[in-house]
Amino acid sequence: MIGSCAAMQSLFRGIEKVSRWDTPVLIAGESGTGKELAAQAIHRASRRAGQPFVAVNCAAIPPTLLMSELFGYERGAFTGALKRKPGRIEMAHGGTLFLDEIGDMPLESQASLLRFLETGCIERLGSTESITVDARIVSATHVDLDAAVAAERFRGDLYHRLCVLRIKQPPLRERDGDITLLAEHILNNLRSHSPDHIKGFSPAALRALSAHDWPGNVRELINRTRHAAAMCENGVITPCDLDLQPPPETRPLTLAEVREAAELNAVKEALQRHHERLIDVAAELGISRVTLFRMMREHRLQVRKGGLGMVCLQG
Ligand SMILES: Nc1ncnc2c1ncn2[C@@H]1O[C@H](COP(=O)(O)OP(=O)(O)O)[C@@H](O)[C@H]1O
Ligand SMILES: [Mg+2]
Repeated sequence: MIGSCAAMQSLFRGIEKVSRWDTPVLIAGESGTGKELAAQAIHRASRRAGQPFVAVNCAAIPPTLLMSELFGYERGAFTGALKRKPGRIEMAHGGTLFLDEIGDMPLESQASLLRFLETGCIERLGSTESITVDARIVSATHVDLDAAVAAERFRGDLYHRLCVLRIKQPPLRERDGDITLLAEHILNNLRSHSPDHIKGFSPAALRALSAHDWPGNVRELINRTRHAAAMCENGVITPCDLDLQPPPETRPLTLAEVREAAELNAVKEALQRHHERLIDVAAELGISRVTLFRMMREHRLQVRKGGLGMVCLQG
């Protein structure tokens, strides 16, 4: 999992903490943010690491098949059940069961899953034999489960069982600096399969990547980079190859502008620190009161009428 920004560092710490426990954990976050990677990371860092990691995508399996996928069946349980088949829950014995897109699970399966969470036992379809399964439950969803519970689309009792521990996957637009890091990483992976020599992103492409909002998160970044790698000419990826608007050129600041901004900042902070007492502010900044007044006039920080040496900040 690539990430060096504060949001990802905090996610990594969260993953490490929940890995030490054996209680169910719910990973919340928008689509394409890497919830499945987080689930795998939790498994690998847990004491169950050497055991199976079994993933079930509750949204991808048709509701009529989900029960037999999860719980398995005996021969003859229904038409077409020609031989016994163990379910995914059973296959996760000793390891981790990853229930992806749990928010899309039909209510019927929710009831059976809740029974398993409460008893630690399952019954295959068409059987009355109870099988004990020891699996750690990690679930993930992009659905707002609180709202789903309120709308009675998701069982409240199941919700509380599933999210004893909770992890929030940050959306890509909140990962300052990581966007270009991830893009370079994705491009590097593509290079080995690419027939052409890809040099990299143009400076404008890097700025376009940082400026985009990324509603589809990392998955969208992967798709755009793939597309761009195929479409680019001369091996350099442009904003157009990424299907993004080129961001306007930003003019570098002059030294005078940098100085002015630093001066305004220093004066404002000193005013706040000394509760706007000008004698103390001037002493701390190492300037005379006359100079301080001039600076405040220039930066439009006004003296409040009536108060002796008091100012109000307007800048
Ligand atoms: N931090 C990351 N570093 C590298 N690849 C990532 C990262 N986050 C997500 N991905 C990749 O993005 C894609 C979508 O991630 P996935 O875990 O399937 O998202 P979600 O389950 O949240 O929809 C996958 O190909 C995954 O490998
Ligand atoms: Mg997913």
